[in-house]
Amino acid sequence: YLSFVNISSSMGNPHALVIPYPVQGHVIPFMELSHSLVERGFKVTFVNTEFNHKRIVATLRNNRKDSQIRLVSIPDGFGPDESRNNIVKLCHATQHIFPGELEKLITMINRSDDDDDVTCVISDMGAALEVAEKMEIKRAVFWTMSAANVAFTQSVEKLIDMGIIDHDGRLMKNQMIQLSPTMPAINPANFIWLCIGDAATQKQIFEIMVNNNKAQKVANWLICNSSYGLEPAAFELIPNILPIGPLFASSQLEKPEGHFWAEDVTCLNWLNQQPDRSVIYVAFGSITIFDKTQFQELAMGLELSGQPFLWVVRPDFINGLCDTYPDGYQARVGTRGKIVEWAPQQNVLAHPSISCFVSHCGWNSTMEAVSNGVRFLCWPYYADQFLNQSYICDVWRVGTRLTADDSGIIRGEEIKEKVKKLLGDEEIKIRISELMIIARKSVIDGGDSSINLDKFVDNIKQ
Ligand code: UDX
Repeated sequence: YLSFVNISSSMGNPHALVIPYPVQGHVIPFMELSHSLVERGFKVTFVNTEFNHKRIVATLRNNRKDSQIRLVSIPDGFGPDESRNNIVKLCHATQHIFPGELEKLITMINRSDDDDDVTCVISDMGAALEVAEKMEIKRAVFWTMSAANVAFTQSVEKLIDMGIIDHDGRLMKNQMIQLSPTMPAINPANFIWLCIGDAATQKQIFEIMVNNNKAQKVANWLICNSSYGLEPAAFELIPNILPIGPLFASSQLEKPEGHFWAEDVTCLNWLNQQPDRSVIYVAFGSITIFDKTQFQELAMGLELSGQPFLWVVRPDFINGLCDTYPDGYQARVGTRGKIVEWAPQQNVLAHPSISCFVSHCGWNSTMEAVSNGVRFLCWPYYADQFLNQSYICDVWRVGTRLTADDSGIIRGEEIKEKVKKLLGDEEIKIRISELMIIARKSVIDGGDSSINLDKFVDNIKQ
């Protein structure tokens, strides 16, 4: 298991076993939390699936060698070349394969004379917490999504009572739901389990989510990557959850973050050559996939905008197609457009040349842009992204929605128009600067989230 051991701390430190749900959007914030724990005197053993572990190790930079975060791996039950995109199978693995593997791992660590016993387990998977409970180890849930999303997820019983969904999670009444007047509204059609696959898959995901919610009840602590200032109403609904964020690396390049793809740092030099507040940054996280028509419209929209742009096109971004750019695109755009497969996103968002972010509104991307005062053009795809869009456009009012035409496509002209509108909107500019201050204040020494993290750490140490 201990396939990559490079921990240099002395014996006697509190020892956290950190295990995120095995996708990129969860691994990154768990890695950031791990850095914060190391800064507070912890030793961290970070558990990935073998599949993800290999990818992460392959992208590590040299400075990783000094890290106090030990990377280890467990099997996920998939075949070596099998796609990990089957979410039902992945969730199944987290509930039925991980527990046995984790128990073996913890037993091995605790039996070793050269290692500190595991002091606590931190995970977003109920099954991992149940293992910790069984082994009498303290345990915490770390929610990597918004508190509003946690509140919705925990309201499933209420939604059934209200007749909005049935016991299988099927939608019975399509009415907007607002848990509190100052929280974003959510369209039930965008509930996490209703965004994926056919009816049978949705039912399975619903069951998995309900089971996960139940299992998380064994946690000693619940923490969340958000802050009171950003989501006051949501934290009133779930006062038992401690916000400790928004976590973000002040310099991602100095603190490796568990990336599945190697960051292309050449884009930072390119950004250095662009005027201040001029570049449109375009990135859709780690999962979103485009079809050819939509991809070409986005390409044209960026061209039409007349602004410099930095665009992340992951190797798996375009639905199995290659050579998808409109004819003669790269020649026309020239050096005005920089396209990379994976960017050091946090450094990009912190760069003075960035003017706005065309984003799918994943919670990490949302928190990273807010923490750096970057405005949004919202292009959500699924899961919590619609809720996050509603925070951005309706509650914080620091971004604009992109609107699809009747055939469901966001056209190039629409992108061009909305970029122009966003960049000319002085009020949004003021509001995003104010929101950035709120976000940053919570994580500096003496800020709410920083105090919560200290409290959490002290509790574990006791
Ligand atoms: C998934 C879900 O899709 C999202 O809705 C949920 O909130 C978290 O889990 P993902 O789609 O990958 O996440 O999006 P996001 O939450 O934004 O996380 C992406 C992470 O990858 C961010 O931390 C971002 O900084 C990083 N990233 C993205 C890079 O480092 N480089 C890139 O080029 C693109």
